Amino acid sequence: MKKLSSQPANGLHGTLTVPGDKSISHRGLILGAISQGTTTLTNFLPADDCLSTLGAMRALGVQINRESTTVQITGRGIHGLTAPKQALDMGNAGTATRLLAGLLAGQPFDSTLVGDDSLSQRPMERVRQPLATMGAKLALVNGHLPMTIHGQHLHAANYQMTVASAQVKSALILAALQADQPSTIIEKLPTRDHTERLLQAFGGEIATAADGKTITVQPQPNLRGQNVTVPGDLSSAAFFLTAASIVPGSRVRLHNVGLNPTRTGLLTVLQRMGGDVTITPTASTGEPFGDVTVAATELQPLDLTAADIPAVIDELPLVALLAATANGVSRISGAGELRVKETDRIATIVTELRKLGVAIEERPDGFVIDGRRAWQVQTSQLDSHGDHRIGMMMAIAALRLKTPLTLANAAAISISYPNFFHDLQQLLPSTEVLV
Ligand code: S3P
Repeated sequence: MKKLSSQPANGLHGTLTVPGDKSISHRGLILGAISQGTTTLTNFLPADDCLSTLGAMRALGVQINRESTTVQITGRGIHGLTAPKQALDMGNAGTATRLLAGLLAGQPFDSTLVGDDSLSQRPMERVRQPLATMGAKLALVNGHLPMTIHGQHLHAANYQMTVASAQVKSALILAALQADQPSTIIEKLPTRDHTERLLQAFGGEIATAADGKTITVQPQPNLRGQNVTVPGDLSSAAFFLTAASIVPGSRVRLHNVGLNPTRTGLLTVLQRMGGDVTITPTASTGEPFGDVTVAATELQPLDLTAADIPAVIDELPLVALLAATANGVSRISGAGELRVKETDRIATIVTELRKLGVAIEERPDGFVIDGRRAWQVQTSQLDSHGDHRIGMMMAIAALRLKTPLTLANAAAISISYPNFFHDLQQLLPSTEVLV
């Protein structure tokens, strides 16, 4: 149980540097492990999900030293992993599970992936089926974990994706590295391209066609260890950008956040809603990054449809919150993927925002929100439902309230952002004590 802060009298203020990007931290570990030589990850995210990946790579025989946010990986090359002695426990980490499914499908040993209750309910057929077209042998239980992988010699992929998923795409890319011929993967919609960018940095040959969706991968590359600086996670910065937008009087600057255009959907959303956003790109070393400043202002409603969704998929709980303060009716559709995240996020967003009296209607693939209705708090306790992003979104929503509430199952927040409340505290006046 966590006591949440209510509305700070003068809003949120200050500059914050958020922790490293979760997606890139997972990928840095995996690509470092299958390269030759040493890889150093700086600003690695030491959150539960990435530590699950780190543990799994160690169990596959890779030497990894971590000191705080610096990780040194002694690469074993693409053919150097060894059979794990027991099942790999992926915890809550969907990204790690799907990516490792692709990597392990082509290794000359068997392995098993298990996870927590939430991960064990998430769909895994979406990786089993496309990998099977390459000759992979993955066994699931009713489409779910535990997943047993019987490592095989893999054929090239020539696969048209049926879901817009960077996790599935990345599983196919990691399998394609081990295939006998070049592979082609065609995305349903363009999704985050961190695997492609990082693979290129490690010396892999991968190209995306002008359509932004057709990816070709050359097999059996000689990957070389790299020094990788992980940018700040825009998905973590998003909580404070949203807070600054909706808590009157706020102005907040987020320093050195990733600005990969496949991830910046929330910034586009804020701009479309009339938000006061200033983006200052500072550098690009494979991944672009920079500073983002947001100040509170009145927001307009917006419509989001399927093509908008991949770039804002993890921020949709925050889009719902922004819409709940806008001066009209917002419609989010084409977001059915939310139903298979850490929780059914359409259901958990609707349940939790209704506790605040928000006028939100559930749809099969999204929600409709009338931000004009004044909030009327119906509860003293909010709930993360064990979902990190729902817990943090509700902690931000609470900053609009006059009375302090509590958050049940707040521990889930450490899945992606162990220092979330500490960082939030930095932006609140010193009289507000959260921790
Ligand atoms: C991720 C891809 C997305 C996203 C997840 C991280 C990744 O999932 O929701 O938090 O790092 O590849 P899907 O690929 O299932 O959409």
